[in-house]
Amino acid sequence: MQMIELSTAGLKLSVLCLGGGPLGSALDERDSFALLDAFVDAGGNFIDTAKVYADWLPGERSVSEKTIGRWLRARKHPSPMIVATKGAHPDLATMHRPRLSPKEIVTDLEQSLRSLQVEVIDLYWLHRDDPNRPVEETIDALQAQMQAGKIRAYGCSNWRARRIAAAQMYARRRGWPGFVANQMLWSLAAVANHTLPDPTMVAMDAALLDLHIDTHLPAIPYASQANGFFQRLAHDQLAGLNDASRRLYDTPQNRRRFQRVQTLAAETGLSITAIVLGYLRGQPFPTIPIIGCRTIAQVQDSCRAADVTLSAAQIAFLEGGERIGRG
Ligand SMILES: NC(=O)c1ccc[n+]([C@@H]2O[C@H](COP(=O)([O-])OP(=O)(O)OC[C@H]3O[C@@H](n4cnc5c(N)ncnc54)[C@H](OP(=O)(O)O)[C@@H]3O)[C@@H](O)[C@H]2O)c1
Repeated sequence: MQMIELSTAGLKLSVLCLGGGPLGSALDERDSFALLDAFVDAGGNFIDTAKVYADWLPGERSVSEKTIGRWLRARKHPSPMIVATKGAHPDLATMHRPRLSPKEIVTDLEQSLRSLQVEVIDLYWLHRDDPNRPVEETIDALQAQMQAGKIRAYGCSNWRARRIAAAQMYARRRGWPGFVANQMLWSLAAVANHTLPDPTMVAMDAALLDLHIDTHLPAIPYASQANGFFQRLAHDQLAGLNDASRRLYDTPQNRRRFQRVQTLAAETGLSITAIVLGYLRGQPFPTIPIIGCRTIAQVQDSCRAADVTLSAAQIAFLEGGERIGRG
Protein backbone atom coordinates (compact mmCIF):
# COMPACT_ATOMS: atom_id res chain seq x y z
CA MET A 1 0.00 0.00 0.00
CA GLN A 2 1.30 3.47 -0.83
CA MET A 3 2.36 5.83 1.96
CA ILE A 4 1.77 9.54 2.51
CA GLU A 5 4.15 11.59 4.63
CA LEU A 6 2.72 14.32 6.82
CA SER A 7 5.59 16.65 6.05
CA THR A 8 5.65 18.73 9.21
CA ALA A 9 5.17 15.74 11.51
CA GLY A 10 7.51 13.24 9.82
CA LEU A 11 4.79 10.56 10.02
CA LYS A 12 4.62 8.06 7.14
CA LEU A 13 1.01 6.89 6.90
CA SER A 14 -0.60 4.22 4.76
CA VAL A 15 -3.11 5.76 2.33
CA LEU A 16 -5.93 3.99 4.16
CA CYS A 17 -6.51 4.24 7.90
CA LEU A 18 -8.34 1.51 9.83
CA GLY A 19 -11.22 2.81 11.95
CA GLY A 20 -11.10 1.57 15.54
CA GLY A 21 -14.80 2.07 16.36
CA PRO A 22 -15.75 -1.63 16.67
CA LEU A 23 -12.55 -2.84 18.40
CA GLY A 24 -13.27 -4.41 21.79
CA SER A 25 -17.04 -3.78 21.49
CA ALA A 26 -18.82 -4.98 18.32
CA LEU A 27 -15.75 -7.21 17.89
CA ASP A 28 -14.33 -9.16 20.82
CA GLU A 29 -10.60 -9.10 21.53
CA ARG A 30 -9.76 -12.10 19.34
CA ASP A 31 -11.66 -10.76 16.32
CA SER A 32 -10.29 -7.25 16.92
CA PHE A 33 -6.71 -8.54 16.85
CA ALA A 34 -7.49 -10.55 13.69
CA LEU A 35 -8.93 -7.43 12.00
CA LEU A 36 -5.88 -5.35 12.94
CA ASP A 37 -3.54 -8.14 11.74
CA ALA A 38 -5.39 -8.34 8.41
CA PHE A 39 -4.95 -4.60 7.94
CA VAL A 40 -1.21 -4.85 8.63
CA ASP A 41 -0.93 -7.87 6.28
CA ALA A 42 -2.53 -5.72 3.56
CA GLY A 43 0.15 -3.05 4.05
CA GLY A 44 -1.68 -0.67 6.43
CA ASN A 45 0.08 1.02 9.35
CA PHE A 46 -2.38 3.76 10.38
CA ILE A 47 -5.14 3.21 12.96
CA ASP A 48 -7.80 5.64 14.16
CA THR A 49 -9.43 5.47 17.58
CA ALA A 50 -10.81 7.78 20.29
CA LYS A 51 -11.02 7.92 24.06
CA VAL A 52 -14.80 7.82 23.78
CA TYR A 53 -14.99 4.56 21.69
CA ALA A 54 -17.27 2.74 22.62
CA ASP A 55 -18.46 4.48 25.80
CA TRP A 56 -22.04 4.55 24.46
CA LEU A 57 -22.21 0.89 25.49
CA PRO A 58 -22.34 -0.28 29.12
CA GLY A 59 -19.19 -1.80 30.61
CA GLU A 60 -15.50 -0.91 30.42
CA ARG A 61 -14.58 2.65 29.24
CA SER A 62 -12.28 3.38 26.26
CA VAL A 63 -12.32 -0.26 25.10
CA SER A 64 -11.10 0.57 21.60
CA GLU A 65 -7.95 2.31 22.86
CA LYS A 66 -7.35 -0.42 25.44
CA THR A 67 -7.76 -3.19 22.85
CA ILE A 68 -5.32 -1.44 20.49
CA GLY A 69 -2.89 -0.98 23.40
CA ARG A 70 -2.96 -4.71 24.18
CA TRP A 71 -2.59 -5.56 20.49
CA LEU A 72 0.46 -3.28 20.15
CA ARG A 73 2.05 -4.99 23.16
CA ALA A 74 1.21 -8.48 21.91
CA ARG A 75 2.48 -7.97 18.36
CA LYS A 76 5.64 -5.84 18.84
CA HIS A 77 5.68 -4.80 15.18
CA PRO A 78 9.14 -4.30 13.69
CA SER A 79 8.00 -1.19 11.82
CA PRO A 80 5.96 1.05 14.04
CA MET A 81 2.20 1.41 13.77
CA ILE A 82 0.88 4.96 13.68
CA VAL A 83 -1.98 5.28 16.16
CA ALA A 84 -4.15 8.39 16.15
CA THR A 85 -6.61 9.00 18.95
CA LYS A 86 -9.05 11.75 19.87
CA GLY A 87 -10.02 13.63 22.98
CA ALA A 88 -12.03 16.67 24.08
CA HIS A 89 -15.33 15.03 23.14
CA PRO A 90 -18.36 16.20 25.11
CA ASP A 91 -19.70 13.82 27.75
CA LEU A 92 -22.14 11.57 25.92
CA ALA A 93 -25.03 12.56 28.21
CA THR A 94 -24.44 16.29 27.58
CA MET A 95 -23.46 16.56 23.95
CA HIS A 96 -24.52 20.22 23.83
CA ARG A 97 -21.80 21.09 26.38
CA PRO A 98 -18.32 21.27 24.73
CA ARG A 99 -15.24 19.99 26.56
CA LEU A 100 -12.37 21.87 24.95
CA SER A 101 -10.68 23.63 27.86
CA PRO A 102 -6.90 23.14 28.12
CA LYS A 103 -7.51 21.16 31.34
CA GLU A 104 -9.95 18.80 29.60
CA ILE A 105 -7.56 18.31 26.68
CA VAL A 106 -4.71 17.37 29.05
CA THR A 107 -6.89 15.08 31.21
CA ASP A 108 -8.16 13.20 28.14
CA LEU A 109 -4.71 12.93 26.63
CA GLU A 110 -3.20 11.50 29.83
CA GLN A 111 -5.98 8.92 29.96
CA SER A 112 -5.45 7.94 26.32
CA LEU A 113 -1.71 7.46 26.92
CA ARG A 114 -2.58 5.05 29.73
CA SER A 115 -5.23 3.18 27.73
CA LEU A 116 -2.95 2.77 24.72
CA GLN A 117 0.04 1.92 26.99
CA VAL A 118 2.30 4.29 25.05
CA GLU A 119 4.50 7.21 26.06
CA VAL A 120 3.67 9.35 23.05
CA ILE A 121 0.65 9.57 20.77
CA ASP A 122 1.52 9.86 17.08
CA LEU A 123 -1.42 12.04 16.05
CA TYR A 124 -3.81 13.61 18.54
CA TRP A 125 -7.20 14.77 17.31
CA LEU A 126 -9.58 17.21 18.91
CA HIS A 127 -12.78 15.18 18.53
CA ARG A 128 -15.12 18.19 18.51
CA ASP A 129 -14.91 22.00 18.51
CA ASP A 130 -16.21 24.72 20.80
CA PRO A 131 -16.76 27.71 18.49
CA ASN A 132 -16.98 30.04 21.51
CA ARG A 133 -13.46 29.27 22.68
CA PRO A 134 -10.50 31.27 21.28
CA VAL A 135 -8.36 29.14 18.98
CA GLU A 136 -5.19 30.62 20.50
CA GLU A 137 -5.86 28.93 23.85
CA THR A 138 -6.49 25.54 22.19
CA ILE A 139 -3.42 25.66 19.95
CA ASP A 140 -1.27 26.77 22.92
CA ALA A 141 -2.51 23.74 24.90
CA LEU A 142 -1.77 21.28 22.08
CA GLN A 143 1.60 22.82 21.33
CA ALA A 144 2.57 22.52 25.01
CA GLN A 145 1.73 18.80 24.89
CA MET A 146 3.83 18.41 21.75
CA GLN A 147 6.76 20.22 23.34
CA ALA A 148 6.38 17.99 26.41
CA GLY A 149 6.80 14.95 24.13
CA LYS A 150 3.31 13.58 24.75
CA ILE A 151 2.13 13.89 21.10
CA ARG A 152 3.99 14.00 17.78
CA ALA A 153 1.37 16.01 15.91
CA TYR A 154 -2.19 17.26 16.29
CA GLY A 155 -5.24 17.70 14.10
CA CYS A 156 -8.89 18.65 14.32
CA SER A 157 -12.07 16.68 13.72
CA ASN A 158 -15.53 18.14 13.14
CA TRP A 159 -14.27 21.73 12.88
CA ARG A 160 -15.65 24.33 10.48
CA ALA A 161 -13.40 25.94 7.83
CA ARG A 162 -13.43 29.39 9.43
CA ARG A 163 -12.18 28.00 12.76
CA ILE A 164 -9.49 25.87 11.13
CA ALA A 165 -8.24 28.87 9.13
CA ALA A 166 -8.05 30.97 12.33
CA ALA A 167 -6.18 28.23 14.22
CA GLN A 168 -3.72 27.72 11.35
CA MET A 169 -3.07 31.43 11.05
CA TYR A 170 -2.32 31.70 14.76
CA ALA A 171 0.00 28.64 14.70
CA ARG A 172 1.88 29.95 11.65
CA ARG A 173 2.37 33.33 13.36
CA ARG A 174 4.00 31.50 16.25
CA GLY A 175 6.13 29.36 13.90
CA TRP A 176 4.28 26.17 14.87
CA PRO A 177 3.00 23.46 12.50
CA GLY A 178 -0.62 23.80 13.66
CA PHE A 179 -3.13 21.16 12.56
CA VAL A 180 -1.43 18.59 10.33
CA ALA A 181 -4.74 17.13 9.11
CA ASN A 182 -8.51 17.48 9.35
CA GLN A 183 -10.98 14.65 10.00
CA MET A 184 -14.54 15.20 8.73
CA LEU A 185 -17.47 13.11 7.56
CA TRP A 186 -17.01 12.67 3.82
CA SER A 187 -17.67 10.12 1.15
CA LEU A 188 -18.96 9.88 -2.40
CA ALA A 189 -22.45 9.90 -0.88
CA ALA A 190 -23.36 13.59 -0.66
CA VAL A 191 -24.46 14.77 2.79
CA ALA A 192 -25.59 18.25 3.87
CA ASN A 193 -24.50 19.37 7.34
CA HIS A 194 -28.05 20.26 8.40
CA THR A 195 -29.15 16.62 7.85
CA LEU A 196 -26.59 15.12 10.28
CA PRO A 197 -28.19 13.47 13.31
CA ASP A 198 -25.55 14.94 15.64
CA PRO A 199 -25.10 18.73 15.25
CA THR A 200 -21.57 18.54 16.67
CA MET A 201 -20.43 16.54 13.62
CA VAL A 202 -19.14 18.33 10.52
CA ALA A 203 -19.37 16.98 6.98
CA MET A 204 -17.25 18.20 4.07
CA ASP A 205 -18.83 21.36 2.68
CA ALA A 206 -17.87 23.99 0.11
CA ALA A 207 -15.84 26.09 2.54
CA LEU A 208 -13.89 23.09 3.86
CA LEU A 209 -13.26 21.75 0.37
CA ASP A 210 -11.90 25.12 -0.73
CA LEU A 211 -9.68 25.28 2.36
CA HIS A 212 -8.18 21.87 1.55
CA ILE A 213 -7.70 22.77 -2.12
CA ASP A 214 -6.05 26.08 -1.25
CA THR A 215 -3.81 24.93 1.61
CA HIS A 216 -3.25 21.22 0.79
CA LEU A 217 -4.11 20.37 4.38
CA PRO A 218 -4.51 16.55 4.36
CA ALA A 219 -8.09 15.29 4.78
CA ILE A 220 -8.68 12.08 6.72
CA PRO A 221 -12.42 11.45 6.19
CA TYR A 222 -14.54 9.18 8.37
CA ALA A 223 -17.62 7.28 7.18
CA SER A 224 -15.63 7.24 3.93
CA GLN A 225 -17.61 4.29 2.57
CA ALA A 226 -20.98 5.77 3.58
CA ASN A 227 -21.48 2.72 5.78
CA GLY A 228 -21.44 0.49 2.70
CA PHE A 229 -24.35 2.36 1.01
CA PHE A 230 -23.07 1.90 -2.58
CA GLN A 231 -21.84 -1.67 -2.04
CA ARG A 232 -25.22 -2.59 -0.56
CA LEU A 233 -27.11 -0.99 -3.48
CA ALA A 234 -24.95 -2.95 -5.92
CA HIS A 235 -25.86 -6.22 -4.18
CA ASP A 236 -29.51 -5.30 -3.66
CA GLN A 237 -28.96 -5.35 0.13
CA LEU A 238 -29.98 -1.81 1.07
CA ALA A 239 -32.63 -3.17 3.45
CA GLY A 240 -29.78 -4.29 5.74
CA LEU A 241 -28.42 -0.75 6.16
CA ASN A 242 -29.23 0.73 9.57
CA ASP A 243 -32.02 3.33 9.72
CA ALA A 244 -29.78 6.31 10.56
CA SER A 245 -27.48 5.66 7.59
CA ARG A 246 -30.44 5.11 5.29
CA ARG A 247 -31.97 8.43 6.28
CA LEU A 248 -28.64 10.17 5.72
CA TYR A 249 -27.51 8.57 2.47
CA ASP A 250 -30.54 7.23 0.61
CA THR A 251 -31.44 10.42 -1.28
CA PRO A 252 -32.33 10.99 -4.96
CA GLN A 253 -28.94 12.67 -5.41
CA ASN A 254 -27.06 9.64 -4.11
CA ARG A 255 -29.24 7.27 -6.16
CA ARG A 256 -28.13 9.26 -9.24
CA ARG A 257 -24.53 8.97 -8.09
CA PHE A 258 -24.98 5.22 -7.78
CA GLN A 259 -26.12 5.00 -11.43
CA ARG A 260 -22.90 6.75 -12.42
CA VAL A 261 -20.83 4.47 -10.12
CA GLN A 262 -22.25 1.50 -12.04
CA THR A 263 -21.45 3.11 -15.39
CA LEU A 264 -17.86 3.81 -14.30
CA ALA A 265 -17.49 0.28 -12.91
CA ALA A 266 -18.62 -1.19 -16.23
CA GLU A 267 -16.25 1.07 -18.21
CA THR A 268 -13.16 0.58 -16.04
CA GLY A 269 -13.60 -2.84 -14.43
CA LEU A 270 -13.05 -1.21 -11.01
CA SER A 271 -14.96 -2.58 -8.01
CA ILE A 272 -17.61 -0.45 -6.28
CA THR A 273 -15.29 -0.18 -3.27
CA ALA A 274 -12.41 1.00 -5.51
CA ILE A 275 -14.62 3.72 -6.99
CA VAL A 276 -15.92 4.84 -3.58
CA LEU A 277 -12.41 5.07 -2.09
CA GLY A 278 -10.75 6.20 -5.35
CA TYR A 279 -13.12 9.17 -5.40
CA LEU A 280 -11.55 10.41 -2.14
CA ARG A 281 -8.00 9.39 -3.01
CA GLY A 282 -8.17 11.28 -6.32
CA GLN A 283 -8.87 14.69 -4.77
CA PRO A 284 -6.39 17.53 -5.47
CA PHE A 285 -4.94 17.37 -1.93
CA PRO A 286 -3.70 14.45 0.23
CA THR A 287 -6.60 12.30 1.42
CA ILE A 288 -6.48 9.21 3.65
CA PRO A 289 -9.93 7.58 3.99
CA ILE A 290 -10.70 5.90 7.32
CA ILE A 291 -12.20 2.50 6.50
CA GLY A 292 -14.72 1.25 9.04
CA CYS A 293 -14.45 -2.46 8.34
CA ARG A 294 -16.22 -5.06 10.47
CA THR A 295 -14.88 -8.21 8.79
CA ILE A 296 -11.52 -9.38 7.43
CA ALA A 297 -13.10 -9.74 3.97
CA GLN A 298 -14.06 -6.04 4.10
CA VAL A 299 -10.52 -5.07 5.16
CA GLN A 300 -9.10 -7.04 2.24
CA ASP A 301 -11.63 -5.64 -0.23
CA SER A 302 -11.00 -2.05 0.89
CA CYS A 303 -7.21 -2.46 0.95
CA ARG A 304 -7.20 -3.98 -2.56
CA ALA A 305 -8.63 -0.63 -3.65
CA ALA A 306 -6.13 1.45 -1.67
CA ASP A 307 -3.94 2.54 -4.54
CA VAL A 308 -6.78 3.48 -6.91
CA THR A 309 -7.06 7.21 -7.49
CA LEU A 310 -9.78 8.43 -9.82
CA SER A 311 -8.97 11.18 -12.32
CA ALA A 312 -10.46 14.68 -12.09
CA ALA A 313 -12.69 13.79 -15.07
CA GLN A 314 -13.95 10.61 -13.36
CA ILE A 315 -14.63 12.54 -10.14
CA ALA A 316 -16.55 15.19 -12.10
CA PHE A 317 -18.54 12.47 -13.85
CA LEU A 318 -19.51 10.83 -10.51
CA GLU A 319 -20.58 14.20 -9.11
CA GLY A 320 -22.64 14.96 -12.20
CA GLY A 321 -22.02 18.69 -11.98
CA GLU A 322 -22.83 18.80 -8.25
CA ARG A 323 -19.36 19.69 -6.89
CA ILE A 324 -19.69 21.58 -3.62
CA GLY A 325 -16.54 23.72 -3.78
CA ARG A 326 -14.12 25.10 -6.37
CA GLY A 327 -11.57 22.85 -8.00
N1 LIG B 1 -14.20 11.87 14.03
C1 LIG B 1 -15.41 11.43 14.22
O1 LIG B 1 -16.26 12.13 14.78
C2 LIG B 1 -15.79 10.05 13.75
C3 LIG B 1 -17.14 9.68 13.68
C4 LIG B 1 -17.45 8.40 13.21
C5 LIG B 1 -16.43 7.52 12.83
N2 LIG B 1 -15.11 7.89 12.95
C6 LIG B 1 -14.01 6.96 12.58
O2 LIG B 1 -14.24 6.43 11.30
C7 LIG B 1 -14.28 5.00 11.38
C8 LIG B 1 -15.17 4.47 10.32
O3 LIG B 1 -16.48 4.97 10.44
P1 LIG B 1 -17.71 4.22 9.78
O4 LIG B 1 -17.77 2.87 10.38
O5 LIG B 1 -18.87 5.10 9.85
O6 LIG B 1 -17.15 4.11 8.26
P2 LIG B 1 -17.58 3.46 6.91
O7 LIG B 1 -16.35 2.85 6.35
O8 LIG B 1 -18.31 4.43 6.07
O9 LIG B 1 -18.68 2.35 7.29
C9 LIG B 1 -18.33 1.11 7.83
C10 LIG B 1 -19.30 0.06 7.32
O10 LIG B 1 -19.20 0.03 5.91
C11 LIG B 1 -19.36 -1.31 5.47
N3 LIG B 1 -18.12 -1.69 4.76
C12 LIG B 1 -16.85 -1.42 5.12
N4 LIG B 1 -16.00 -1.91 4.21
C13 LIG B 1 -16.76 -2.49 3.25
C14 LIG B 1 -16.46 -3.17 2.04
N5 LIG B 1 -15.20 -3.33 1.62
N6 LIG B 1 -17.49 -3.65 1.31
C15 LIG B 1 -18.77 -3.48 1.71
N7 LIG B 1 -19.12 -2.84 2.84
C16 LIG B 1 -18.11 -2.35 3.60
C17 LIG B 1 -19.60 -2.16 6.70
O11 LIG B 1 -21.00 -2.27 6.89
P3 LIG B 1 -21.70 -3.59 7.55
O12 LIG B 1 -21.25 -3.59 8.96
O13 LIG B 1 -23.16 -3.29 7.39
O14 LIG B 1 -21.22 -4.75 6.75
C18 LIG B 1 -18.95 -1.34 7.79
O15 LIG B 1 -19.48 -1.61 9.06
C19 LIG B 1 -14.65 4.69 12.82
O16 LIG B 1 -14.27 3.40 13.23
C20 LIG B 1 -13.86 5.77 13.52
O17 LIG B 1 -12.50 5.38 13.60
C21 LIG B 1 -14.79 9.16 13.37
